[in-house]
Amino acid sequence: MPTEALIRTDAVTVEYPVRGSAFRRQMLRAVDCVSLPIAAGETLALVGESGSGKSTLGRVLLGSQTPLEGVVVWRGHPVTGLRGREWREFRREVQVVFQDTGAALNPRRHVIDSVALPLRWNRGLRSGEAAERAAELLEQVGLPARDFARRLPHALSGGQRQRVGIARALASDPALVVADEPVSALDVSVRAQVLRVLQAAQRARGLAMLFITHDLGVVRAIADRVAVMQSGRIVEDGPTDAVLDFPRHPYTRALMAATPALPSHIRTT
Ligand SMILES: Nc1ncnc2c1ncn2[C@@H]1O[C@H](COP(=O)(O)OP(=O)(O)O)[C@@H](O)[C@H]1O
Ligand SMILES: [Mg+2]
Repeated sequence: MPTEALIRTDAVTVEYPVRGSAFRRQMLRAVDCVSLPIAAGETLALVGESGSGKSTLGRVLLGSQTPLEGVVVWRGHPVTGLRGREWREFRREVQVVFQDTGAALNPRRHVIDSVALPLRWNRGLRSGEAAERAAELLEQVGLPARDFARRLPHALSGGQRQRVGIARALASDPALVVADEPVSALDVSVRAQVLRVLQAAQRARGLAMLFITHDLGVVRAIADRVAVMQSGRIVEDGPTDAVLDFPRHPYTRALMAATPALPSHIRTT
């Protein structure tokens, strides 16, 4: 490898206990010895059907799930060795956008305050500065502060709430965003818009992004590289066009056969 990855998993395995076996404790291997590097500025799509282990691997990268075996290496250092300030920096630099990030906003907090909080806590800005910066972030995700700053989450559409969630993640000035099915809960009509917001942020800031999806249809528009996960393992990993145009693994071919042709309005570029 010419340069050190921004982040990588090194032979990571995660197991969950399976219920129902009273005598023998059975374990499900949700992630099975996965070594996956992500370069700075790269958008990696992690695809695979539901239950293949994508979200579990995402949680491992976020540092919110400890693997049974293997390590996560962040800027060359094992995450388990990070302490104090280094650990807080890691938590700031690695942000997440979930399927329901928008729904997780505090229902009683004006959206500008939800975006301003990480600016104050993670980046130490005073409230006036934080509010100004939060307004800029709202503009960046296509929500003019003049109209949206003082709204409560219930006065937004699902797509608008998800964009507030993205603005909040960006407020920490991350180097990596783990986006776990970020548009899967949205109406098809607004998915392209939210994808464009993520893509624009990725480009403008040179973010790395792990874009987790079971929907191959959105991958071509957004990803530089695609990793295909099946039953806890990465079965294929390569540049997006190579993987989508010349899939090598039968599982990738089966996934593609199950994906309807991408409607033109979903394309973001
Ligand atoms: N907290 C958990 N406890 C037990 N089993 C889990 C837990 N989270 C996920 N699993 C199981 O691990 C496997 C992988 O799940 P997940 O990582 O959510 O896959 P994906 O995101 O690809 O749908 C599935 O079989 C799922 O049921
Ligand atoms: Mg998942």
